[in-house]
Amino acid sequence: MDYLKITGGKPLKGEIKISGAKNSALPILASTLLCKNLLKITNLPDVADVKTLAKLLEHLGSTIEWVNANELLVQSDRIIHTKAVYDIVRKMRASILVLGPLLARFGKCEVSLPGGCAIGARPVDLHIKAMEKMGANISIENGYIVAKAPNGLKGNDIIFDKITVTGTENILMAAALAHGETRIINAAKEPEVIQLCEILQTAGIEIKGIGSNELYIRGSDRELLEFKEIEVIPDRIEAGTYLCAGAISNSEIILKNIIPKHLEVIIGKLKEIGFNITEKDDILCIKPANKRKAFEIITTEYPGFPTDMQAQFMALATQCEGSSSIEERLFENRFMHVSELQRLGAKISLKGNVAKITGGEKLIGADVMATDLRASSALVLAGLVAQGQTQIHRIYHLDRGYEGLEEKLCGLGADILRLKEN
Ligand code: EPZ
Repeated sequence: MDYLKITGGKPLKGEIKISGAKNSALPILASTLLCKNLLKITNLPDVADVKTLAKLLEHLGSTIEWVNANELLVQSDRIIHTKAVYDIVRKMRASILVLGPLLARFGKCEVSLPGGCAIGARPVDLHIKAMEKMGANISIENGYIVAKAPNGLKGNDIIFDKITVTGTENILMAAALAHGETRIINAAKEPEVIQLCEILQTAGIEIKGIGSNELYIRGSDRELLEFKEIEVIPDRIEAGTYLCAGAISNSEIILKNIIPKHLEVIIGKLKEIGFNITEKDDILCIKPANKRKAFEIITTEYPGFPTDMQAQFMALATQCEGSSSIEERLFENRFMHVSELQRLGAKISLKGNVAKITGGEKLIGADVMATDLRASSALVLAGLVAQGQTQIHRIYHLDRGYEGLEEKLCGLGADILRLKEN
């Protein structure tokens, strides 16, 4: 296993190219099960989660040719079976995204229950309830979701009790091949959901309400779709993470290949703290703040403050004057990074799902442990400014969702080594 050794206190300067969005690449790969033609996908992030889903597709019978680490050709017209096995699904819970397409196309499938992860139980009850509403018969057998819809899925009104990103994406893909019309009420409207809608629309599916919480989809009645070449949108969470790298070290850095609109809330919060951020086309520049003020955050669904940026802002809060507060409203256990930040000297107190951070304390390097993807990035950010050396262990979490993180930060002047645990 690898670990990162960071020597803190180095000023950062320079520019970073943002990679494709992991959380768009995953539903896009799953949607290729609906596609009848050879398809090129570009700007894929070179991260473990994308590789895992590609392996799952190959296991189902798709043929995948990697042109390079960020581009592939995929053909899924000859699927040989419809069982998403535990051994692959356990590595990446977003594998649940094959449920909708497999069920809609074949009328049956078995998908291993993804199980929880560090940040919460991560149930999929809303996915299952929605598929049942579309006529599927679903049972849980030996840890597998066993779904049957021998006559295909039928369009229906789907009301989500909670806004769910992959739930919305699963039903979008199921509805695309269903018989008749589906309305999704209380749909997620993250940019990654919007890209999936646009891809299906370009493939000939009538979709209305894109970008709103109410979607209307007219299905193809199990006709496979003709997809056009896809370029994955830039990763707004990766971009937000590097903005926080500039903010926590109070440096000037430039981000290229971003969509400013997707970062509006993050940019707004950084400006409120005291940073000067300029944007031009697909370029963002963050400049040092004279004074970094404490702040308040409540995580909500898009376009609100993203839960995937909560840990990174908590690291930043340790460098802001005064007491900041962060309330996590989406996941029940997304404060695993708190105890690790405290090991670095951060003054953080927890009360239920609210964290209070007293800023202005010097962080001192130490050994810390990554627990989940975004928590790991928060520890890297803290290591950039901690005095001395910080060793971050179990960084396989980091490799799931950040392409070349240490290379990108070292390119700005950070001192980060990737070493092997002895
Ligand atoms: C997506 O996860 C993202 N992952 C997550 O990013 C992100 O944190 C999350 O959306 C929220 O924005 C991908 O897109 C691959 P949800 P998802 O279903 O879809 C509850 C990262 O770091 N819920 O929107 O799994 C759930 O427990 C990852 O890149 C149910 O109760 O999240 C949570 O409280 C982490 N039943 C809330 O809804 C269900 O059937 C939102 O979850 C489904 C969800």
